[in-house]
Amino acid sequence: MCDYWCCDLSMGIMVCIQLGMVKTEEAGRYLRNQGLTGNSYKLLFGDMKESSAMSREAKSTPIKISDDIVPRVLPFVHQYISNYGKKSFMWLGPKPRVNIMDPELIKEILSKNFNFQKVKTNPLSRLLANGLASQDGEQWTKHRKIINPAFHMEKLKHMLPAFYLSCSEMISEWENNIVSAEGSCELDVWPSLQTLSSDVISRTAFGSNYEEGRRIFQLQRVQAELLIQALSTVYIPGWRFLPTERNKKMKEIDKEVQASLKVIINKRLKAMKEGETDNDDLLGILLESNLKEIEQHGNNKKVGMSIKEVIEECKLFYIAGQETTSVLLVWTMVLLSRHQNWQQHAREEVLEVFGNDKPNFDNLNHLKIVTMILYEVLRLYPPVIMLNRIVHEDTKLGGITIPSGVLLSLPTMLLHYDTEIWGDDAKEFKPERFSEGVSKAAKNQVSFFPFSWGPRVCVGQSFAMLEAKMAVAYDSTTILFRAFTILYSRSIPYCNSSTPIWCSLDSTETLDISVYLGFKIS
Ligand code: HEM
Repeated sequence: MCDYWCCDLSMGIMVCIQLGMVKTEEAGRYLRNQGLTGNSYKLLFGDMKESSAMSREAKSTPIKISDDIVPRVLPFVHQYISNYGKKSFMWLGPKPRVNIMDPELIKEILSKNFNFQKVKTNPLSRLLANGLASQDGEQWTKHRKIINPAFHMEKLKHMLPAFYLSCSEMISEWENNIVSAEGSCELDVWPSLQTLSSDVISRTAFGSNYEEGRRIFQLQRVQAELLIQALSTVYIPGWRFLPTERNKKMKEIDKEVQASLKVIINKRLKAMKEGETDNDDLLGILLESNLKEIEQHGNNKKVGMSIKEVIEECKLFYIAGQETTSVLLVWTMVLLSRHQNWQQHAREEVLEVFGNDKPNFDNLNHLKIVTMILYEVLRLYPPVIMLNRIVHEDTKLGGITIPSGVLLSLPTMLLHYDTEIWGDDAKEFKPERFSEGVSKAAKNQVSFFPFSWGPRVCVGQSFAMLEAKMAVAYDSTTILFRAFTILYSRSIPYCNSSTPIWCSLDSTETLDISVYLGFKIS
């Protein structure tokens, strides 16, 4: 049975290759005729072999913390644009991918989300999460409308106690370490920051069902690791149906995650019907917003989300919001350990704004210096390093026509380091750039977009910024910076360890670091 299947598969692949080659070469010629440059097409793999080899090479040797991060994280794109210039395209397998480095075009692409759509990646990624981030068209519009209220400022206010509790648990753990080390010690802060962002999502997503949520998210973590392994090889259509160890494990995890989430959701729906719940967590708000939408349309269930769809959105909250936020926090700590003057400014600001109060919505929103620092960290180390889009029909963009099926890459990280936009000191940590806000710093262009931009801007942006501010300015008595001075440890001159940081929602780029920071009680 399997033999027939494999034979079918390889015949299918051959036909696809022949049909595909004609289209591939046409698309390449079409782009060249319009002034774009790039490598010539190499059968099936395009530039992928070279790109993977460069990535492996870049990550094989440790780099100093002061070294350029761009050639390490995006070695191929970085070199390609240096060689071919900003109007170039590369080959992602048989598909051309145009590099977009012009902020005006980035604005156009991100504002016309119905023309420039999400790229459908390896179908196995659907096992990890198949929610809002991968949808397009009417389905996306419907889901975004229902999900938006869960992230309104008014709702986020009620989540602050959950942020606070998770921060206090992390700080207590650090304090114990420091106290037992008699005043100062070195800690690998990365695992703690990952636990922090993970706990924050479990608590804010599931409220009283936090422990069950935590277990589900642990499974999601394993699923993400298995997916990263799967994405590191070329995807062969149909491969996911083969009973390989990895495929079997991924399906098992998916089954368990789906079943557990279904139990939580049904329990919650029952409690809502009986009026027994206050619905302040993401799941509650989402279910309420969903029911409201259905009721407003004469109880037409088609306008709302099904239970299966709610499950997928819950899975996505964790995937989209956990690693990204912990990456922001870890780089914030690294940069503050290296720039003691900014650590001091932040500490003074927190003391002044908070006085003897605990963090609350108002005082967190008054932290101007902390916000400037976080923006500068997001500029230099954006957790999502690149956005990818595709056009499904010939589409005008700037002065050129992008043929149907061609991909577009918006390399966030490269734009954040562009000296034409940010000046000759683009590589330097200078939070003062943001002293007059984001628009002024970015010269009123879409050249700073760590959370994307336009209608599909990250729905969790305010959530993530509040969480980060809370973590930085923990509370008026045990403020992270007041209780501890973060020191740059001699144990971290290099970015090199086995801990993967998943840097991108859409790509498999990983960055390996282990972050030992020194702490001294001030
Ligand atoms: C520092 C933290 C974060 C960063 C840098 C970040 C960045 C991004 C970016 C760049 C996108 C757009 C991706 C694309 O269009 O290709 C995105 C989308 C999204 N993010 Fe975030 N994110 C963060 C935190 C969060 C959190 C905490 C949540 C939820 C709890 C979240 C939920 C989402 C969702 C659901 C989308 C899809 C939105 C849509 O397509 O309409 N993110 N995020």
